[in-house]
Amino acid sequence: MTGYVPIVCLALQVTVSALCGCSKETPQKREPALQPVNSPVSSSITKQTQKGEALFKQYCFSCHPDGGNVSDPKRALYGSVLRSNHISKPEDIVRIMRNPISRMIRFDANTLSDKDAQAIAEFVLQTY
Ligand code: HEC
Repeated sequence: MTGYVPIVCLALQVTVSALCGCSKETPQKREPALQPVNSPVSSSITKQTQKGEALFKQYCFSCHPDGGNVSDPKRALYGSVLRSNHISKPEDIVRIMRNPISRMIRFDANTLSDKDAQAIAEFVLQTY
């Protein structure tokens, strides 16, 4: 007789979790309504990349034409080269602008604001 008790408990648990599962689904269905909020964000990213391109031409192109590197080809800005030098995120590129490895000139926050530096970094990662 006592052997039935755990089975009843189990059955109850299954029923309860099934009910919880159902009630959780309702808020998820509302998510698509939030999507339009994302659109202005993605268009501002495009604008940011265009700004990054203009700034890159102004500050970086002379030494990094088309993402290359006139004095150190092993330090070009092509995706594969960057990855082999452990540079994969915009922050990694901003860090190099602030603290270059050796011969590159330094770009401090007076020359390029954090926002501008970020825009250049995103342009580099998306383009080369
Ligand atoms: C005066 C020439 C010069 C300018 C201008 C310059 N760089 Fe560089 N850059 C270099 C050199 C040289 C290196 C190789 C590392 C070193 O010597 O510091 C380098 C390395 C880098 C690297 C590391 C690449 C790798 O594969 O490891 C990044 C990222 C980078 N530069 C980004 C920029 C950005 C962004 C700008 C513009 C804001 C810029 N550089 C402007 C000369 C320059």
